[in-house]
Amino acid sequence: MTSLSPILKQATPVVVDHALGSWIYGTDGREYLDFTTGIGVTSTGHCHPKVVAAAREQVGKIIHAQYTTVMHKPLLELTEKLGDVLPTGLDSVFYANSGSEAVEAAIRLARMATGRPNIVVFQGGFHGRTVAAASLTTAGTKFSAGYSPLMAGVHMSAFPYAYRYGWDEATAVEFALQELDYLLKTRTAPNDTAAFLIEPALGDGGYLPTPPAFMEGLRERADLHGIKLIFDEVQAGVGRTGKFWGHQYSTATPDIIITAKGIASGFPISAIAASTETMSKAWPGSQGGTYGGNAVSAAAGVATLGVVEEEGLVENSRVRGLQLQAGLKAIQSRFPVIGNVRGLGLMQGIEFTTPKGTPDVATAAAVQQATTDQDLLTLTCGPEGNVVRLIPALVVTESEIEAGLQRFEAAVGAVVGAVPATAGV
Ligand SMILES: Cc1ncc(COP(=O)(O)O)c(C=O)c1O
Repeated sequence: MTSLSPILKQATPVVVDHALGSWIYGTDGREYLDFTTGIGVTSTGHCHPKVVAAAREQVGKIIHAQYTTVMHKPLLELTEKLGDVLPTGLDSVFYANSGSEAVEAAIRLARMATGRPNIVVFQGGFHGRTVAAASLTTAGTKFSAGYSPLMAGVHMSAFPYAYRYGWDEATAVEFALQELDYLLKTRTAPNDTAAFLIEPALGDGGYLPTPPAFMEGLRERADLHGIKLIFDEVQAGVGRTGKFWGHQYSTATPDIIITAKGIASGFPISAIAASTETMSKAWPGSQGGTYGGNAVSAAAGVATLGVVEEEGLVENSRVRGLQLQAGLKAIQSRFPVIGNVRGLGLMQGIEFTTPKGTPDVATAAAVQQATTDQDLLTLTCGPEGNVVRLIPALVVTESEIEAGLQRFEAAVGAVVGAVPATAGV
């Protein structure tokens, strides 16, 4: 009998029958509150009726309208709709299927546009699992160990992870910018540096918002040296952080932006946007692929952007995110094993630490497992795996957040001891 490869790891034992909104219905008959959204993908919730209708309609028209052979309407419509939300000046877009592919495409574009070889990434960043994307990923050795040699020309600089260093944010930012300047003097000269690649909020690296002052410091240095600033908004984009783009918490704007995940509510599609001037420095045909910009995914993307706008989902993400974070901080006050709660919008991380302040990997893993027992689906992240991350759908309601908090607290209590008498959110 054939079985699934053990190479694939599954965070929960759940087998899904069907799903709707924030809920996953298992073949075991249980109803799970889904605070994973397929790793931040089902932005409009599972099977939003408008996304389902758009995809169904498109399947009946054409499924694979290969976009370097013929053009199709959904991709033109998606490009126009993206134009309403893309940062000023980023008026040219092309498409791929996944986040990793889009990251690789952005790197190829930056190298061609500048004629320079090197890319600077920031410690804890996650940019994907294909070889080039894994070469750019420093969110844990598990993403690159065992299949070197990786892509050359990648240099890592410090990330201002204030909690880890035990500093305030301003000190951490100052330190990380100094380290970057030092890297540009000691390892990769500005004239050899094509791009800085950063997530506006670290995803797999621990759900850490990137401090606005750091983003702005990167912009200054990119302008000074003619280096392209690439924002990887694969996880943080499309309303996830309570703004449409995660970088909008700062005044910094990108030269190249990458989006995927939440843009089509679960259909695979990714987009890379830059100015026409930047795009025109790469040669026609330098990017493409068999499946990129799939017609059904693009139709789902158009519907998703419509729903995000019509239902005010960016604002819902902000408000429900504040509710979620306040509830998590209240839980933190009752459980010292929670060292840090942080995040933006509906992208919240709970970092577990020992009394000595070191990462408590075992408790985080046990809590993540225990949430499933409470019918709440969660994931872990962070280089050490000691952060539980909560990523509800952008359509999540006040009562669903409340239920999620109660279930999360029950899971923590089940792992570290009975819920204190004062508990209850
Ligand atoms: C910020 C970021 N970039 C890139 C990727 C890679 O995307 P994919 O898994 O679609 O290749 C991810 C995936 O989690 C991500 O979070």
